[in-house]
Amino acid sequence: MEYRRLGKTQRQVSAIGFGAWAIGGSWGEVDDATSLRALHAAADAGVTLFDTADVYGDGHSERLIGQFLGERRGESLFVATKMGRRVPLDLAAYTPEAFREWIDRSRDNLGVERLDLIQLHCLPTDSYYHPEIFAALDDLVTQGAIASYGVSVERVEEALKAIEFPGVASVQIIYNIVRQRPAEHFLAEAARRDVGVLTRVPLASGLLTGKLSKDTVFDESDHRRFNRHGEAFDVGETFAGVDYETGLAVVEELRSLVPAGATMAQMALRWILMAEGVTAAIPGAKTPDQARANAAASDLAPLPPAAMERIARLYEERIKPLVHQRW
Ligand SMILES: NC(=O)c1ccc[n+]([C@@H]2O[C@H](COP(=O)([O-])OP(=O)(O)OC[C@H]3O[C@@H](n4cnc5c(N)ncnc54)[C@H](OP(=O)(O)O)[C@@H]3O)[C@@H](O)[C@H]2O)c1
Repeated sequence: MEYRRLGKTQRQVSAIGFGAWAIGGSWGEVDDATSLRALHAAADAGVTLFDTADVYGDGHSERLIGQFLGERRGESLFVATKMGRRVPLDLAAYTPEAFREWIDRSRDNLGVERLDLIQLHCLPTDSYYHPEIFAALDDLVTQGAIASYGVSVERVEEALKAIEFPGVASVQIIYNIVRQRPAEHFLAEAARRDVGVLTRVPLASGLLTGKLSKDTVFDESDHRRFNRHGEAFDVGETFAGVDYETGLAVVEELRSLVPAGATMAQMALRWILMAEGVTAAIPGAKTPDQARANAAASDLAPLPPAAMERIARLYEERIKPLVHQRW
């Protein structure tokens, strides 16, 4: 496993993390025993970075991670959580008192004195124009409730605005083979400002594993069924906003590029780690096998230039015209 410094947090984290949205129970069936085994399998494979949020299963994901941390005392694990979505998205709700309450709840769920990293959870664009929001976060660092803070954003422009605030240590953003715009406008600027970058939805919600087909049936509680057109939240979070059939067709083109002995998911993760400015990819895993396979992507050889060029061209021709300017 490769380790990289997560920007101004000054902490070393694994280049492959563990995305803990699904183990909260927010999409598809999961059982806690399997989820815990998946967390341990990840840590055994060298993963030290775990991404969760206070709303994943209404705290269930955080509590599972809290239990897991209790079972691995003494290890240098890093948990990034998020806040801001327990209330309707309204700037009036983001007061210092609310932040304190949400952070205390997450500390409780995780069983820690101080959060390693709290990320504002895709707040409205306007929030990045309100310095008092970031001043409140600075105060929470001073008080010792959080070690550092960052933002999780939908759009590149939100990320660029957020990192103007010097206290922002990290940005979480969607970046994958079918979402390439952050490389054009954002990654270099993040590196210049020493801001860590966590890339979420690295497998385009499973599309880039190559295992989905037009006949795949998703569970009723799975956003890949109920949010295909953004019915519940930003459509960019589901299949990275790419129309399902178009995504499947692009995946067929990717098959011949998968390195021998690797899976398409591993290639997709390795592709992300090729980009300068990326700290880590945080694939969502539900099982020990998935967690182990994802972790192993860090050890793959760099993708050959011909594969990188083919992926760039596929994006340019098939994906860019459809979604590029949206996020
Ligand atoms: N607004 C935000 O801040 C936000 C939004 C979205 C996500 N996130 C974070 O980013 C993380 C990752 O995003 P995501 O979970 O939405 O999408 P993702 O990582 O792109 O995809 C997860 C999907 O890939 C499948 N998968 C994972 N590893 C696999 C493997 N090795 N082999 C085969 N299939 C595999 C899972 O399988 P199944 O088919 O078994 O389900 C799951 O459906 C989340 O867990 C969360 O921590 C944050």
